[in-house]
Amino acid sequence: MEAPHSPAPDGATATARLTLHSPDQTQELGRTLAKLLRPGDLVMLTGELGAGKTTLTRGLGEGLGVRGAVTSPTFVIARVHPSLVGGPALVHVDAYRLGGGLDEMEDLDLDVSLPDSVVVVEWGEGKVEDLTEDRLHVVIHRVVGSTDDERRMVTLTGHGARWAGVDLALG
Ligand SMILES: Nc1ncnc2c1ncn2[C@@H]1O[C@H](COP(=O)(O)OP(=O)(O)OP(=O)(O)O)[C@@H](O)[C@H]1O
Ligand SMILES: [Mg+2]
Repeated sequence: MEAPHSPAPDGATATARLTLHSPDQTQELGRTLAKLLRPGDLVMLTGELGAGKTTLTRGLGEGLGVRGAVTSPTFVIARVHPSLVGGPALVHVDAYRLGGGLDEMEDLDLDVSLPDSVVVVEWGEGKVEDLTEDRLHVVIHRVVGSTDDERRMVTLTGHGARWAGVDLALG
């Protein structure tokens, strides 16, 4: 994993870029990132279908030491994985099937679970930003034109006071 620093864009407090070369590396990034996370943290995952958002979340779950396999839920929109080690639960949300409606999102009561949990949301753009001003935004994308099917570019951006000064270059 290479992790060059780059200047933070407007409104963001910290950013780092990484190249991942396999699903295992993506999962490992999740395990590493988990060490930075604490109750009340919101992680937003952006990337096209099959980018690796759930794979990364699996690593987050391992790193946090939570119960249950992290999978792509077919019918469930949010799944709670309680901690096995006395830490925060992982709330894994896949908002893909949710319409734009904030009402459906509100039904999940994420504001209630957030203070004691790490909330990770796939497809949450435009739906979860109101939960908290602080969030870690992870953007995963395939490299256009790459012949390597497993290559992914990842950008980590911390927004808000929570992430100010946090070193996201996880080299
Ligand atoms: N570097 C990589 N990181 C993550 N997944 C990879 C990588 N290279 C190949 N893959 C494959 O891409 C797929 C990623 O699936 P995953 O469910 O994690 O994606 P997703 O972003 O959650 O998709 P969806 O939007 O459908 O929820 C897996 O089949 C995985 O094996
Ligand atoms: Mg997924």
